[in-house]
Amino acid sequence: MKTQQQILRNTSVQGEILPEMDEPQFRQWVDLIEERTGKVFPPTRKSFLITNLVMRMKEIGCASYQEYYEQIKCGINGLREWTILVDRIIVNETRFFRCPSSLDLVKETVESKCPGEDGSINIQAWSVACSTGEEVYTLAIVIDQALASRSEESHFGVTATDICQAALVYGREAFYKEKGINDLDNAHMQQYFEEVEDGRYRVCDRLRQKVCFARMNIEEIGHEPVGNMDIIYCQNLLIYFDRERREEIAGNLVEHLQTGGLLILGSGELTGWKHPLMEKVSCNHTLAYKRCKE
Ligand SMILES: C[S@@+](CC[C@H](N)C(=O)[O-])C[C@H]1O[C@@H](n2cnc3c(N)ncnc32)[C@H](O)[C@@H]1O
Repeated sequence: MKTQQQILRNTSVQGEILPEMDEPQFRQWVDLIEERTGKVFPPTRKSFLITNLVMRMKEIGCASYQEYYEQIKCGINGLREWTILVDRIIVNETRFFRCPSSLDLVKETVESKCPGEDGSINIQAWSVACSTGEEVYTLAIVIDQALASRSEESHFGVTATDICQAALVYGREAFYKEKGINDLDNAHMQQYFEEVEDGRYRVCDRLRQKVCFARMNIEEIGHEPVGNMDIIYCQNLLIYFDRERREEIAGNLVEHLQTGGLLILGSGELTGWKHPLMEKVSCNHTLAYKRCKE
């Protein structure tokens, strides 16, 4: 069993050993998270917090934990920065249309998919860490809309997996509070949601029928029967793992992608990754690869 110190010493971002965070500093972050989100951040997740802080500090050129902390506490810019950080450190955090640049790539992939031998278009997508379903239904909406612009007969399905059973139950039921869906425009609301009681909305039957939720631990992906995907969407999951494991998981995902299929990762989650079957797709704010070989 590793001690906390050993875990910390072994924690790295892009091969670099991370600076130590002392207990008072850690406490300061835990208090801030609890105060602002109501969630208790357990000491066992200290290395996870440090990895994410350092990743973000590097992105914005911040030199120390304390400097970053002061920045987050300061004014409107601090609040803006806080919303970016909180998305990365709160485990089930998700929302509809979370990453527009990645969704544009999904749309392009659907719009350019060649028809099969029978002349129809078939799209299969996989949300690898689907949490409570917002990402899954977003993908289903984007695919449905992109297919509607095509003249061929079309079909699609979205496979949604996560390790967290409670999140899967929530996603399957597909009831969302108004606050959670107020980023959607009116046209999407009317087409894909039905108002139910207590200010809640439910995803319409037609979209729910396109989605299949199943429990899967990504670390056991090798044993799972997942089909040949056109789109694998794996965002805000790799952050839980060290670099070596991230590469292994991404490599395993490639095995479930058809030639021409798209692998979308979270921006900054696997910088500099190379794989012999994959070509990097150039896109701002998104880390994506296309499978170029059998
Ligand atoms: C921050 S949420 C991201 C949700 C969604 N992908 C998004 O970007 O909005 C991370 C999700 O990863 C799931 N997760 C964590 N470890 C996992 C594992 N080993 N296998 C599968 N899912 C996992 C969590 O249960 C959680 O729902």
